[in-house]
Order: sequence, then C-alpha cells, then structure tokens
Amino acid sequence: MLLALPDILTPDDLRLARSLLASAPWEDGRSSAGPQARTVKNNEQLPHDCDAARQITSRVLDGLNRSPLFLSAALPLRVFTPRINRYGGSSNHYGNHVDNAVRLKPVPGGQTEYVRTDVSCTIFLNDPDEYDGGELTVSDTYGTRGVKLRAGQAVIYPGTSLHEVTPVTRGERLACFLWVQSMVRSDEQRRLLFDLDMNLLKLRQQHGETAETTALTGVYHNLLRQWADT
Ligand code: NI
Repeated sequence: MLLALPDILTPDDLRLARSLLASAPWEDGRSSAGPQARTVKNNEQLPHDCDAARQITSRVLDGLNRSPLFLSAALPLRVFTPRINRYGGSSNHYGNHVDNAVRLKPVPGGQTEYVRTDVSCTIFLNDPDEYDGGELTVSDTYGTRGVKLRAGQAVIYPGTSLHEVTPVTRGERLACFLWVQSMVRSDEQRRLLFDLDMNLLKLRQQHGETAETTALTGVYHNLLRQWADT
C-alpha cells in the first residue's frame, strides 16, 4: 500500500529544518548503501549523529507518532534511525533498487538491534516547486506511481517494492527517510487491517457506537492478535 500522510511536520519544524540544513555537514550517500544500491545511488546525506540530523529526525519521529494514519497503516514495532538526504547538482538521483531487507541499528548502551524494513517512509522537507525532477517512483504489482509531495507531508510504501528517485534537474530536493519494522510483516494483512480501521472510524462518525461497530472492533483486534509479532 502506498499512502500519503498529511502534516507530519509543522511550519515551525520546517523552518528549523531548513535553517539547520543550510550549514549541515553533507556527505556522500553511498556510505550507507548495500552493494547493489551503491552502484545506482548518487545523492548526499547527513551523518545520522550530527546535530542537524538529530534535531530534525526527532521532530520527524514526533510528527509520525502524532499521525493516526501512520500508526494505523504502518503498525510500527521498530523504526530504523532516520536519514536526511539531498539531491541536486551532480549528486542528483538514486536509480532503481530494492532496499536491504534487514538493517543493523545501534541502540543506546553500545548495543545493536535488527530492524526488518517492512515499510519505507519519505518525509518531504521542501516544496515541489523548488526543484524539477526528483520524483520518488515506486513500482509494485499495481504498476508504477510517481510521488512528489508538499513540504511536511510524507509517503509510506512497502519495503518490498522496487523504487527510485529520478534525477533532479533544477534546484535541490531535501527529504528525510526511514524504515519501519511493522508488527505485521505482510503488506496485504496491513492493508486489510488499515481498511477495517478506517471504515470503522467512518461508521462511528456517521452512526456513533453501535453493536456492529463494537463487534467489528473486536474482529480488528482479533485479526491483529493473530498477525502481530511483538
Ligand atoms: Ni531505497
């Protein structure tokens, strides 16, 4: 499922991000790519532990945690450390690839944990009229879709899909990117749970709580109980 998420970052978050990024220590994006992705990746990114990256990713994670759509669609269990990237000039694209299935994440105390990349999420940090090209293109069984959203909005899509960022031919594209290990590994099962949840929400808005919404809420939780790994 490919889903746009409105208003993940506030205007205040975006102002902070833009001022921090203006003087941030950008580095070659290939340093964090796997062997196949490295051959097609050509962008810049911030070291994940620099001050700008820490401040921006903290705002991004707060914004995602406030988003009922994100929580319902992704059912997050673990989130891999977000990355901030920039496409422009001679470092302007990321060719077609599938992300590595599992990433090793450093956690406090010098430990590490594995994060399975079930759901990919891109949060746009500048507006589409600031650059040409730079479209996130995601291919799945339903075909190929191009995504280019307003600053502060995000998109999630299955980690299993082939995707690319097309070359930026004017200006620069700024974005934050992260992976989620979901409690529910299967994209199809997540989709069913999301549809059930969203339609229950609408039924409640239209009719209030009824015996049927109570029963269907039970079905939702019993499916989640069957499918969730925690
Ligand atoms: Ni990727």
